[in-house]
Amino acid sequence: MARDGSNDGAARGGLVCVTGGSGFIGSWLVRLLLHRGYTVHDTVKNLQDERETKHLQALDGADTRLRLFQMDLLDAASVQPAIDGALGVFHLASPVILQPDRDPETEVVEPAWKGALNVLRAAKDCGVSRVVMVSSQTAMVPNPNWPADKVIDEHSWADVDLIKKHELWYNVSKTLAEKAAWDFAAKAGLDLVVLNPAWVLGPTLTPSVTLSLHVLLQILKGQSFDMDAFFIGSVDVRDVAESLIVLYENPSAQGRHLCLESSQRMVDFTNQLSDLYPELPVQRIQEDKQDWLVRAKGPSKKLIDLGVRFTPFEKTIRDTMDCFKSKGLIKHLKRQTIRKTFT
Ligand SMILES: NC(=O)c1ccc[n+]([C@@H]2O[C@H](COP(=O)([O-])OP(=O)(O)OC[C@H]3O[C@@H](n4cnc5c(N)ncnc54)[C@H](OP(=O)(O)O)[C@@H]3O)[C@@H](O)[C@H]2O)c1
Repeated sequence: MARDGSNDGAARGGLVCVTGGSGFIGSWLVRLLLHRGYTVHDTVKNLQDERETKHLQALDGADTRLRLFQMDLLDAASVQPAIDGALGVFHLASPVILQPDRDPETEVVEPAWKGALNVLRAAKDCGVSRVVMVSSQTAMVPNPNWPADKVIDEHSWADVDLIKKHELWYNVSKTLAEKAAWDFAAKAGLDLVVLNPAWVLGPTLTPSVTLSLHVLLQILKGQSFDMDAFFIGSVDVRDVAESLIVLYENPSAQGRHLCLESSQRMVDFTNQLSDLYPELPVQRIQEDKQDWLVRAKGPSKKLIDLGVRFTPFEKTIRDTMDCFKSKGLIKHLKRQTIRKTFT
């Protein structure tokens, strides 16, 4: 399928709801849905905040086919109006916070799983035909029981006790939310399908960069991050948006879907970045602690079989860099001066 939807014969159109459509992934999804003829109900946390609304209202088709709703994941009554009348729901809204300021339970974990249940319940009550939910690679690893010689696939679940012990609260939130969603869908007889993206990169339509791009920016500026327990690769945001629509439009798509270009280790990732941008102070990892992860090309077999084609890593990184430069976040600096500048 072409990304612009020009070469696709699948049934499409109708009203769908996107939760969290103001965010990094959400705004690409809303853009693609509008392009493909859908009418979209999109939830934002604060309708009065132009940083959440303006980039969406500027999208082609938004004037006639996009309606924004204010929604708080923990307020069930605020969820239903956006879903009412929709044929399908794309559930993306969830706190993307790695280091909570105060209480991880109330800031990150509860809004994720209780919010997912509020959305699924509303979808069931409103007679929605399919819910596509965004989970994460962090709901798949670390899994100490996974065979050391086997490529990670959709059968792997993160060990909740282990990620709690390591205080990986975002990972806990995604794992519990996905588990709660599967449990609810089975009991309620709701058609649910799940996408598990790896680390999402690429250009953003939002006015500021959200967490996943912020982390990349810091790595490009020389900071190091400990992601050894859960990093299995990266994926282009435009491929994530396309995959979500593919899952919605294909009734044969069932279960979880790992979404990434290739399974790689953090050491490969930083080496590739450093090779692409030798003028930047990217820290090469000296000790590879990810011997639990088998490298693989094209591990997202379920999505590939559904027609998804993944953007090569180098293009994603170059497009992300162009986006950073256009926002003035990385400047065109001479090779000799750059190390002094990024301190
Ligand atoms: N980026 C990645 O690397 C990655 C990888 C795997 C999975 N995911 C998942 O993909 C989804 C979107 O992530 P993203 O990267 O696009 O992050 P993002 O830009 O921060 O988007 C998150 C969205 O959720 C909304 N949200 C958060 N808490 C909410 C609440 N309590 N009530 C209502 N809305 C709430 C946010 O609204 P505001 O903008 O108003 O805060 C925002 O629209 C999330 O479920 C995330 O876990 C992301």
